[in-house]
Amino acid sequence: MRSLTFRRPDDWHVHFRDGAMMQTVTPYTARAFGRAIVMPNLSPPVTSAAMADAYRARIMACVPEGVSFTPLMTCYLTDHTDAADLVAGHKAGIFTAAKLYPAHATTNSAHGVTSVDHIMPVLEAMAENGIPLLTHGEVTRAEVDIFDREARFAEEVLAPLLARLPKLRVVMEHITTEEGAALVRANSARMGATITPQHLLYNRNALFQGGLRPHMYCLPILKRERHRLALRKAATGGETCFFLGTDTAPHMRHLKEADCGCAGVFSAPVAIAAYLQVFADENALPNFEAFASLNGPGFYGLAPNEARVTYVERPARIAQEIEVDGAGKLVSLFAGESAPWSEDAAS
Ligand code: DOR
Ligand code: ZN
Repeated sequence: MRSLTFRRPDDWHVHFRDGAMMQTVTPYTARAFGRAIVMPNLSPPVTSAAMADAYRARIMACVPEGVSFTPLMTCYLTDHTDAADLVAGHKAGIFTAAKLYPAHATTNSAHGVTSVDHIMPVLEAMAENGIPLLTHGEVTRAEVDIFDREARFAEEVLAPLLARLPKLRVVMEHITTEEGAALVRANSARMGATITPQHLLYNRNALFQGGLRPHMYCLPILKRERHRLALRKAATGGETCFFLGTDTAPHMRHLKEADCGCAGVFSAPVAIAAYLQVFADENALPNFEAFASLNGPGFYGLAPNEARVTYVERPARIAQEIEVDGAGKLVSLFAGESAPWSEDAAS
């Protein structure tokens, strides 16, 4: 049985939601990770330092006793973002970064940015003040095929933006394509990328395995096999610009199994096991700590966590569903199956 000891990891892309859902999902992330970048796409979105500070307090109230966990907050950019509030919030230690959702790209993105041209003063202030821009990297024009949206964003939006603002630091979140990985690699002095477990484990066939699979539906959508292979190479190859970000995105079962189902894979309960499976299959376990625990802090200018954890290749049964008090049920990645790795009880 293989075993691996590594520094406590961080999750650089998480959706905690709010209320009863947040109470249910936060402990899974807080137990497994030292820190997490928290996405601001609530309804209404987290658009000011005051809102982020209040949200951080609500998250902390959901962290189990005795668990050491730090949420790192982000500002949801809109066409009307107040640059002064963002910079002041960053200086005060409330905001770690700001998130660009192209309007209508995904869950709760209706207030998102209609064009980066509309927020240039904000982006300039971010570049000047070293505030990272986190992107949901998809164009949203109706004529662009859903499988091409990321590659088109990299080419049409991100590459020109990088040229225009040479000091801007950017994380391309949840990359899903060869093109995304190539852009990040080419600009690795000031760019990083998160990669989710589902985009490393599955190609787009998983959406239709024996029938329609709503729990495999997320955005950006799963892609072709050649993209999955490119992502596995990026994640496991030890390059410092690629790091762990699950994009764990819980939605109630009845809202995913619906006429117009929500996008998101809820991976928090099994995330580390899922990534470890990828690294084990690629014979790359020696590079796991870099991806999970070192490269993210390196990009954000933070020290890696000091604590160590040990995982063993011992399968653990995963629940069919998880109840959210009075609101419905969640179906996690690997639900009803077993996760191939588990934390060593002694670690
Ligand atoms: O699948 C996704 N779910 N992708 C996103 O970009 C947002 C997320 C959510 O908030 O549900
Ligand atoms: Zn996300």
